[in-house]
Amino acid sequence: MENAKNILEVRNLEINFNTYAGTVRAIRNVSFDLRRGETLAIVGESGSGKSVTTRAIMGLLANNAVVANGTIEYDGKDLLKQSNRQMEKIRSVDIAEIFQDPMTSLDPTMKIGKQIAEPLIVHKGVKPDKAREAALKMMEAVGITNAQERINDYPHQFSGGMRQRIVIAIALINHPDILIADEPTTALDVTIQAQILNLMRRLQNMINTSIIFITHDLGVVAGMADRVAVMYAGKIVEYGKADEIFYNPKHPYTWGLLESMPTLDTDAEYLPSIPGTPPDLLNPPVGDAFAPRNKYALEVDLKAEPPFFEVSPTHFAATWLLDPRAPQINPPEIIVQRQQKYENERQQLINADRLNHHSAEEDL
Ligand SMILES: Nc1ncnc2c1ncn2[C@@H]1O[C@H](COP(=O)(O)OP(=O)(O)OP(=O)(O)O)[C@@H](O)[C@H]1O
Ligand SMILES: [Mg+2]
Repeated sequence: MENAKNILEVRNLEINFNTYAGTVRAIRNVSFDLRRGETLAIVGESGSGKSVTTRAIMGLLANNAVVANGTIEYDGKDLLKQSNRQMEKIRSVDIAEIFQDPMTSLDPTMKIGKQIAEPLIVHKGVKPDKAREAALKMMEAVGITNAQERINDYPHQFSGGMRQRIVIAIALINHPDILIADEPTTALDVTIQAQILNLMRRLQNMINTSIIFITHDLGVVAGMADRVAVMYAGKIVEYGKADEIFYNPKHPYTWGLLESMPTLDTDAEYLPSIPGTPPDLLNPPVGDAFAPRNKYALEVDLKAEPPFFEVSPTHFAATWLLDPRAPQINPPEIIVQRQQKYENERQQLINADRLNHHSAEEDL
């Protein structure tokens, strides 16, 4: 994956909001890349800046937003410099978005077949009967049974999970380069959630779209993401391949998120949550914004902002704990146990693979 081409490059993004109480520093120097065909998960607590980041990519920031610095490069263009009209075109062809509540993107008065076909007719100049055919195919692809009969139904005639499938069909009908999914399954029950996530993965493989997947649920990330960026108080504090974040996390905030993540073998009742609350972004703290909640905080954390330290060529974390002068601190026990478990599972997989190989050869 490291060598794959970047489809999107966000550099030094700073976004403020003007409010009566003062300036909210919502995004504080955020940079990241999105590669072709990959899924990048952005995780973090409520208010960390996940949605503002993606709103900026879509050109849909609130009126009181001020982009104080940065660029968002897509296809040789800085998206922050495009006109509303150009952004409208990009949103309907190149960068699509799905939200937590499908009803926000569906027109309750329009038949769903028409809603799925419309982007093709309007933006790709496809003839209505061909577009209808494509809509039918797309309905089948997203798992709407009896597509022929249901093409003339209205959104309210579908369940929540089915509506999210329709939204996905609309978002993907033009084969966008990028799909932004902002908590797309949190409103759904667990079984339906899993189905929608599977569906997204399948379609992603089909049309080779890149996905920015926003969630506060690390459990969902595990099965979905190639890479993970962890956000805290308007900054990315750690990023790396999903495995690196899950099994070799370095930032105490990531430790906290992982500790509070339920797994099959933990008892949900005893999950610790990270004590304290995120800082007030009207007056962001000096130094490491996580320091007041960090039991491993060093003195320097209150004075200076940590730079990114390289953990591997694909993994970086902004914590002074990685400075060579810092005391050696081990991650919490629960995380060490998971690393162990992962290593065991990996060994089992390798062994199973060897066995498979063996019997495959015998079959020949
Ligand atoms: N229009 C606005 N005016 C003022 N502040 C805003 C505005 N929009 C967002 N913010 C602030 O920007 C920060 C980041 O918000 P954002 O919506 O990106 O959080 P999030 O990570 O998506 O959280 P959640 O998980 O709750 O969706 C928050 O402090 C929020 O209050
Ligand atoms: Mg949000």
